[in-house]
Amino acid sequence: MDLKKQIIETRNLFHQALSAVGTLEQLEATRVTYLGRQGTLALLTDELKKLAPEEKREVGALLNELKQEVQKLFDAKKAELETAAQREAAEQLKNFDVTAYKQRLQGSLHPYTQVIKQIEDLFISMGFVILDGKEVENDFYNFTALNIPEDHPARDMHDTFWLQTPGWLLRTHTSPVQIHAMQQRKPPIALAVNGRVYRHEATDATHDFMFMQTEGMVIDKNISLAHLISSAQHMLRVLFEKADLKFRMRPAYYPFVEPGLDIDISCPFCKSGCSICKKTGWIEAAGAGLIHPRVLQAGSIDPAVYSGYAFGFGLTRLVMFKYGIHDIRLLHSSSLDFLKQF
Ligand code: DAH
Repeated sequence: MDLKKQIIETRNLFHQALSAVGTLEQLEATRVTYLGRQGTLALLTDELKKLAPEEKREVGALLNELKQEVQKLFDAKKAELETAAQREAAEQLKNFDVTAYKQRLQGSLHPYTQVIKQIEDLFISMGFVILDGKEVENDFYNFTALNIPEDHPARDMHDTFWLQTPGWLLRTHTSPVQIHAMQQRKPPIALAVNGRVYRHEATDATHDFMFMQTEGMVIDKNISLAHLISSAQHMLRVLFEKADLKFRMRPAYYPFVEPGLDIDISCPFCKSGCSICKKTGWIEAAGAGLIHPRVLQAGSIDPAVYSGYAFGFGLTRLVMFKYGIHDIRLLHSSSLDFLKQF
């Protein structure tokens, strides 16, 4: 058979074969038969090379036409067979990047979570229990039992969010946990609590209406200021990872302790005064003291037998100092640029 006829024959056979194709697999088999490296069209091309030059031109043009037609019909059939879903799957596979897993995004713990975990581990190692308090308290636990009776001026220092139910409020400090613990446990008691507290204040870089405190309390026979000072110092040294952190105690008034004091630490960032310590070289870390006998009584503990110490750390301040965070509002901002740093 001459080549011209073979080409026409092939064309007919291809049309027949293609009309019988119903799946992509069948289409692929047809492609191999006609367009494959050893397919019919390749064989015809080999034959073409054997022709005399003037024949070659004419038959070559025919063969070229056939090749284009076969390719075109093949493509059209393929498009028809690929459903939208299959196309999508193929597209996805094309974009699949096996190296992408190397650049997996890794999350990290919030600075609060990191410090709280550190504090909890530390107190547990000293034999304290870690308690949870309630953020909604009443007048008795937040004030009265802590020796802040009604009309006491200290109530004014706690700008309180009162709830609509009379006598109920958002706790202004973590100290109410002391009273709950005294009522529920018997001495010796050693506890620590990390929790949110609320103050009705205008918000700026150093004030927020919600912040965190760490409350600590120990009650046993013969508890003295020495116990308070040593455990508070230990905690702050571990937290700031600075063995030579210095401390300063100043007398201070809190109705629920007697004597009461403020604990300052030497500024961990400078030697001679910087913007963080307001050029004083010291940073206020906690309020503390020996538990007032009236507070022990409010918790049904006999002050003639037991004594105790308590402290309240400004957890938010400590987190800010530890990480050099200059704006308290960032801590609750959910800003990824901020969070990615930790
Ligand atoms: N509750 C105090 C406050 O919020 C802090 C404090 C001071 C807690 C002295 C104590 C303490 O346990 O003994 O300002």
